[in-house]
Amino acid sequence: MSKDKLWGGRFTQPTDKFVEEFTASIQFDKRLYHQDIRGSVAHARMLGKQGIIPLDDVEKIVHGLQKILLQIEAGEFDFSISLEDIHMNIEARLSAAIGEAGKRLHTGRSRNDQVALDIRLYLRDEIVEITTYLDLLLDALLNQAEANLDTLMPGFTHMQTAQPILFAHHLMAYVEMFKRDKARLDDCLKRVNVLPLGAGALAGTTFPIDREYVAEQLGFPAITRNSLDAVSDRDFALEFLSDASILMMHLSRFSEELIIWSTSAFQFIELSDGFCTGSSIMPQKKNPDVPELVRGKTGRVYGNLMAMLTVMKSLPLAYNKDMQEDKEPLFDTIDTVKGSLKIFADMIREMRVNSDNMGRAAGQGFSTATDVADYLVRKGLPFRDAHEAVGKAVAYCVENEMDITELSLAEWQLFSNKIDTDIFACITVEASVNARNVPGGTARECVMREIQNVRAGN
Ligand code: ARG
Repeated sequence: MSKDKLWGGRFTQPTDKFVEEFTASIQFDKRLYHQDIRGSVAHARMLGKQGIIPLDDVEKIVHGLQKILLQIEAGEFDFSISLEDIHMNIEARLSAAIGEAGKRLHTGRSRNDQVALDIRLYLRDEIVEITTYLDLLLDALLNQAEANLDTLMPGFTHMQTAQPILFAHHLMAYVEMFKRDKARLDDCLKRVNVLPLGAGALAGTTFPIDREYVAEQLGFPAITRNSLDAVSDRDFALEFLSDASILMMHLSRFSEELIIWSTSAFQFIELSDGFCTGSSIMPQKKNPDVPELVRGKTGRVYGNLMAMLTVMKSLPLAYNKDMQEDKEPLFDTIDTVKGSLKIFADMIREMRVNSDNMGRAAGQGFSTATDVADYLVRKGLPFRDAHEAVGKAVAYCVENEMDITELSLAEWQLFSNKIDTDIFACITVEASVNARNVPGGTARECVMREIQNVRAGN
């Protein structure tokens, strides 16, 4: 019956049962119970301090809310669909428990600023947690990089063998990506960490509230500057969803590589059994389910960003019920990103590296051809001419089914008379890698320095 509703005053007919279910958010926003109670305690204390409600009532409210918190955590709270959302579920229960005082809690506040507060409080904590998961992954990557400073591998462009690199260098490329993801989330946090409470429904409130005091209690370094914006802004959530999408894009690229590297054609790495599953028909199969699923889950995280952008598109100011649709995409993204990062850190830590196979592959596909061209440049040939000469040498090798490391000096000299016996030392994969000792290059000393830099927090 409408008379049970906290807003039932102007209604004479009960809400249709299905409408009630359709419009409710309690099924998913009960996740915000902790933040809702925290926000209400801070609000009540402020109301008391400002003399807006009696201090006795504040005590009753705070005590009552603490009891509700315990009930929810013990699984003893009966969430009701007819009370629509977490805010009204808690408030109604409070009033039922403590009477009059409970009914004073909502003074100078609206669910519009209340829900904005709850999401910000929730997202703030989750962002911090996600960055700690990122730290775990970074740590696993740095350890693997350190352990693989002598592991050679073919570097690819167009998925074709390009130049030899260190496996550590490849892993450190992901370290760079995840460090940027972390920096993006830290930056997003600045926009999340602003107190919207005090905006009321949309225009502010007639009561002499102290917003700074609420901000201080809840650890917000800033308060919103416009009440309309405060209740209708979800940019901070969109920013998070964008950052999460980029992060998942990185994880999907890494997943794809792990999947390719663990094929029987490559055999560069082996994922530990705990991260793979078998096939019900093919006894030999060990499928890389975890990276495949992370790659797949990237789709829903992109989808959540699109859903939220579309919900917000063209919405007039200020709050509209459409915005209740902000929660599920946000929650789903948080869960997906946390799960993916957690499982990835463990998987990378346990990944076994087949350095023999990688090293062998590093020398195939004429991977040191660029080194011969650079060698000729050092002997005075213009780079374009050097490129041409080495191209011909490669064609000769293809024709004769041999590798450039098998060419004799006499054969080399068919392509350039500037080539001498020192060519042989220059075309090993180790020499090729270590010759690239520019900042950001793959030479062992450069990669080692980068590992140290990142470990030192740079
Ligand atoms: N459950 C609502 C939401 O999540 C809370 C705000 C409702 N405000 C309102 N005026 N109906 O958006």
